Amino acid sequence: MKRIAIFASGSGSNAQNIAEYFEEKELAEVSLILANTPKAYVLERAKELEIPAYFFDRKNFYHSDEILEIIKEHKIDYIVLAGFLWLFPHNIIQAFPNKVINIHPALLPNYGGRGMYGMKVHNAIVANKETESGITIHYVNEAYDEGQIIFQAKCELLPTDTADDLANKIHDLEFKHFPEVIENLLTAEGTF
Ligand code: GRF
Repeated sequence: MKRIAIFASGSGSNAQNIAEYFEEKELAEVSLILANTPKAYVLERAKELEIPAYFFDRKNFYHSDEILEIIKEHKIDYIVLAGFLWLFPHNIIQAFPNKVINIHPALLPNYGGRGMYGMKVHNAIVANKETESGITIHYVNEAYDEGQIIFQAKCELLPTDTADDLANKIHDLEFKHFPEVIENLLTAEGTF
């Protein structure tokens, strides 16, 4: 059984969707949830799902090995970022080579980078009258949204679509594809 840790900063609907997806599977489980604020609703979802969860601040995330130690204590094999807003630290990336992935709510390399998250992405895409958008799942390196792309899925934008309409379309894509992509990577021999 492979053990997954999920990092999130907000609601955590993707984290819950992934945890419930693997509840039915022998392959893996979500064994740990981590948030960079005590206010993240993902921590409430973790309680309901009975998954160990922690929150941390910048000091123990960037200036100590505390979070890396917690991950090791929980014998984590793979790390998934789902709505996690901070740059991921060198020490954890080094300890989990090709075993940290992230989902971004747009078709990278467009609409990515520092400050491009959530509704900011959808507002920019609608404002630019784009005719399509989508999701990107990629490996995490030490730059925002620049790691090697693993998977993308697209959705059409109607001229009448609002940023909220787009956010709903993106959420549907994330819920459909993210758990399956993780499962495919987990079953792929050798690497994540
Ligand atoms: C998702 O749209 C994800 O692509 C983005 O942040 C959002 C997180 O949503 N990085 P939730 O916290 O999983 O509900």
